Amino acid sequence: MSLQDVRVGFVGCGRHATEVLLPAVHAAGMDLASVCDLDRRRAQRTNRRFGAFRPYQDLRKMIDEMDLDAVLVCGPPEMHSEAATVALERGCHVWVEMPAAPTADEADSIAQLAATRGLIAQPGLMMRFAPAYRRLRDIVTGEGFGRALAMSITWWPPLRDGHDDPLLFDAPHVLDLARFMLGEIEGVCALCAAPQRASLALSFASGATGTISFVAGAARSHESVFIAGTDSLASAEDRRDLAVRRRDTDEITLWRVDSATAEGHGSTDQLGYLLEIESFGRSVLGEEEPRATMEDAAAAMRLAERVAASEEVPSSP
Ligand SMILES: NC(=O)c1ccc[n+]([C@@H]2O[C@H](COP(=O)([O-])OP(=O)(O)OC[C@H]3O[C@@H](n4cnc5c(N)ncnc54)[C@H](O)[C@@H]3O)[C@@H](O)[C@H]2O)c1
Repeated sequence: MSLQDVRVGFVGCGRHATEVLLPAVHAAGMDLASVCDLDRRRAQRTNRRFGAFRPYQDLRKMIDEMDLDAVLVCGPPEMHSEAATVALERGCHVWVEMPAAPTADEADSIAQLAATRGLIAQPGLMMRFAPAYRRLRDIVTGEGFGRALAMSITWWPPLRDGHDDPLLFDAPHVLDLARFMLGEIEGVCALCAAPQRASLALSFASGATGTISFVAGAARSHESVFIAGTDSLASAEDRRDLAVRRRDTDEITLWRVDSATAEGHGSTDQLGYLLEIESFGRSVLGEEEPRATMEDAAAAMRLAERVAASEEVPSSP
């Protein structure tokens, strides 16, 4: 079996889907049977562009007629959990862009429904799949790093149209990244939080501490992760450049993730989108366990909810 044997339908043919996710589905070599969008012309255009068999405007009709293994969902955040529920109830595995549900509790409900049906519900936590972050995690958990003491993350993503609450919509990505690197987060407090920015302090179950600087809509996007261990320091910048400095030596080991692959995957590859779609496909085939789960999404969303509800949130934007 190969990814060509995974027959998928895609719901939501907007910007992120057509610029990033559908190219990843295509590059992964999955069998894209159909696409669906409320906007008929957009569905037709996307169907033609990505070589699917049939466009739809209604998800239920698409699933009933197309004999799909899996449905991928990327629409406005408020439709994600309903679409995921419809797909799971009709026997399809689902991949759902973040935020996978309006609340952490609803993400948990999707996880329970999927477990009851024996199906996969994977959220779009692309950072877990970015080659730079996978390598950084291997370094931090590998020999020679020692015990992780502290982590400092800067995440300044662009401000996206239609996102009126980046803290709830986007911050779960970076909170999940922190969990991915150093494990369970027990405490989170917002030193200063507003919908478009937050300075967070974290405490991990391991005893490590962390800080996150989150700003949506700064002049330029920027992303960095620095981790201090008892025997080494390691960092990744812009999901591309890694550096490791060992105790007692002046040497620095550097890597750069080469995003210009022969297949021309470009940043879809470097940022993690392609690898997450491929991994989802392999999970559908039963070849690997999902590497991002709805429980991960719910945990990150719950942390973001705690931050948003923080008493220190000022009223000004
Ligand atoms: N993970 C990331 O890096 C990342 C980046 C950008 C956007 N996003 C997420 O992707 C999602 C889409 O963002 P976008 O900028 O592409 O939005 P968009 O507005 O361009 O596209 C949304 C599409 O969904 C369609 N749609 C709405 N309701 C539908 C329904 N019930 N059935 C079928 N189609 C429906 C709309 O007609 C539209 O074409 C958002 O949830 C956003 O949070 C994630």
